[in-house]
Parts: sequence; structure tokens; C-alpha cells
Amino acid sequence: MANCVSESISRGAVTDALNTTNSQAIFEAAKELMPGGVSSPVRAFKSVLGDPVVFDRVKGPYAWDLDGNRFIDYVGSWGPAICGHAHPEVITALQDALEKGTSFGAPCVLENQLAEMVIEAVPSVEMVRFVNSGTEACMAVLRLMRAFTGRDKVIKFEGCYHGHADMFLVKAGSGVATLGLPDSPGVPRSTTSNTLTAPYNDLEAVKELFAENPDAISGVILEPVVGNAGFITPEPGFLEGLREVTQENGALLVFDEVMTGFRISYGGAQERFGVTPDLTTMGKVIGGGLPVGAYGGRKEIMSMVSPSGPMYQAGTLSGNPLAMTAGIKTLELLKQEGTYEKLDSITSRLIEGIKKSAKEAGLPITGSSISAMFGFYLCDGPVRNFEEAKAADAQKFGALHRAMLNRGVYLAPSAFEAGFTSLAHSEDDINSTLQAFQESFAEIA
Ligand SMILES: Cc1ncc(COP(=O)(O)O)c(C=O)c1O
Repeated sequence: MANCVSESISRGAVTDALNTTNSQAIFEAAKELMPGGVSSPVRAFKSVLGDPVVFDRVKGPYAWDLDGNRFIDYVGSWGPAICGHAHPEVITALQDALEKGTSFGAPCVLENQLAEMVIEAVPSVEMVRFVNSGTEACMAVLRLMRAFTGRDKVIKFEGCYHGHADMFLVKAGSGVATLGLPDSPGVPRSTTSNTLTAPYNDLEAVKELFAENPDAISGVILEPVVGNAGFITPEPGFLEGLREVTQENGALLVFDEVMTGFRISYGGAQERFGVTPDLTTMGKVIGGGLPVGAYGGRKEIMSMVSPSGPMYQAGTLSGNPLAMTAGIKTLELLKQEGTYEKLDSITSRLIEGIKKSAKEAGLPITGSSISAMFGFYLCDGPVRNFEEAKAADAQKFGALHRAMLNRGVYLAPSAFEAGFTSLAHSEDDINSTLQAFQESFAEIA
């Protein structure tokens, strides 16, 4: 893809100000031990300047690396850390839970508690199944879509990421886009032949796919707000239109709220935009920093899942008591008065400040935020889909990323990932971040 800048990026005017001696030594060793030195691809910084810093610890809005450098963190472990890292109440609850054991492999009351909270919060969810990751949730939901409708095909959108299961690795966002991978080797054509794709925000394209594949499409899955191709919001009428067209065609509408769930609002993007899908996938925030995923929806559909129904899906560690505990405490914290107003306010101040200083430095920029999620592209807007996102200057973003790191701000190491704020980010943190942006834009312009 056009944005694959990998090794070719030049250092340009950015001079390294950080001492990263220990990080470098550990990362060099890691490269011999793990592919690319990481457990997940985008962490390797391949599309931005330099090597990754290796984290030692995290607290509140901050991360510290092995050389003692402190960063204001806008990655938040890729989404879960919405209350800030290692929130004292989450840690205390986990310490108490730890005393009772780390895994039960049997029903536990904590599952009921988190399930009740999710069902109460998320409009589409009447019943939920816990799994261990967002990938697992999306993989299972697709099986459920097929089982319920008796149809094999699915529509997804270009630049949306639904985890790394075979049938979703078609025009996917996140690392697939960042690293410029066309499709992954090892995914059989037979697996993806049932995956149809359309540009995000293009309702007509979806209607055409339904017309071309009568009675064959099980449903439409999407990130209701896209965070894996940068940050793209739905145009007015798009989500409503998808609700209508799926209903008209006897197909299911699925919101992948792994990223947006409990972040765009307490009830997710579906609450914020007032469109209720049939099924929803979740992850990240509902695990409070421990490995969790979930899928849920109408009882009639969820009753197909084993052992209520015939659709098989299982997991050794699913409903893990530690993960449930962290999730429950995190949702309790989020439920407090004023949470989303605060997140909205700091994040919109951040994005407006970023845009202002880019423009002052003479750089093209477009960007926006909703609640605790934001993103910008170094190009003139609007960006309504992945194709338009590709106009962003990924080389410049690479330089910007390093310039910000040098000034103590940790951004996602990709031009195609959203940014995340948290309740722990103070007005002072936002001020320091904006100062860093101002200097960095001036440096790279
Ligand atoms: C929207 C969305 N769906 C699914 C996933 C996959 O989740 P996980 O990385 O927990 O497997 C992600 C991960 O970033 C995501 O953002």
C-alpha cells in the first residue's frame, strides 16, 4: 500500500534527544527471541522513526521506559486504560481477587456481575458470552451470524479491523494497513471468498452487494467509529442506513465495539449514535487491562450459542475471575457522574490544539475526536474512508512520532491508529502535550 514506509523513512531534521540505551539492548535481544522482537506487530515501530522504547511500568496517564524516560501515554495499552493505568481501585480489587485464585474453569459470580453491567449499559445486548480477546469475539460472532441466518457471506469495510481471524484479513486496518500488507499469506482463498468489502461511509456500495448476492449475506460487521484506519466517524445517516438495509435483506447488523465500547460513551457508539445493532463485540475496556473479549446481542440469537444451542464456542480461561474483577471495577469507575463530559472536554481541547499548531507550522491536517478517542491525518480533509486516509503523509507522521517521543509524549506508532485519552490525563498533561506538538510540528515542517 502507498503508506508502507517501513525502513525507507529518513531521519530528516529530527534529532534523537532520548537516552534509550537499555531499551535498545533489550529490543536487540528480543529480535532474536520473537518475530520482530514483539508480541504484536505495530509495537515494533516499523512505520515510524527509530526503535521502540521498552516499557518498565505504567501509572495513571504515564509510562516509564527502561532508561527512566517518562511519557504521557496516548495509547493506553491500545484502549483498555480509560481510567488511567493501574488505577488504585482496580489494583486493590485485583489483589483481593488474587487471594481466591487465578483461574476457576467453573462458573463464578463475577461473570454474572460483569454480564449484568454490560447488558444494562449496551442497548443491543440482552445476553453475553465472555471470551479472551477481541479477535476471539469477532471470530465467534461471525460463526454466530452464519449459524443464525444460514448464510455464509459477510460484508466488512475497507480499513476496519476485526482481529486477525482468517476471514477478516481482507482489506483490514490496524497493523495490516500500517505495515502495508496486501493480505496475509496463509489465509486460504476459500476462507475469504465469503468476505465482501465496501468503502466505509458508502451505503450505496453496501446496497449493491446485497443486490448482487440475494439471500446469501449473513450480515454487515463494522467499527461504528473507525479507530483502525486512523480515526473516521460515520457520516450522518450511514449507521441508520445500514440498520435499514440489513433489516430489509434479512441480514444481521454487527457493531464491533472492541475499541469504542465504554469509550465513545458508556453504552458505546450504539448509544451515542442511537442505532441498535443485532449483535455487538467488545474487548479492551471491559477487561480493565486484563485479557477479555465478549460478544452479545438479542436473546433469540445468543441462544444459538453452545450449550444453549448448537453453535460451538468455548474457552479454558474465558470468564477468568481476575479479568472479570478488573472489568467490573473499571465499569464502576466509568459509571460515575461526569466521566464522559470530562473525556469529551479534554480530548476535544487536545485535537483542536493539535490542528492549530500544525496549521501554524504550515502543515495540512484534518482530525476530530469523540469522547476519549481522537485522530488526525497529515493531509487536507475530509477523510471519510480508508482510501481518503491514504492521502495522509505517513513519512511526516513518522518524523512527528519521534519528535513527540523526544519530548515525552507517546503516540501510537502508526498514522493509522486512533489516539486514546483517559480519566487520568490532567489539564496540565494536555498543556504539556500541546506544547510538545507545537515544537514538533515546527521541527518537522
Ligand atoms: C475494532 C477491533 N476489533 C477487534 C480487535 C481485536 O482485538 P484483540 O487485539 O483483543 O484480539 C481490535 C484490536 O485492536 C479492534 O480494535
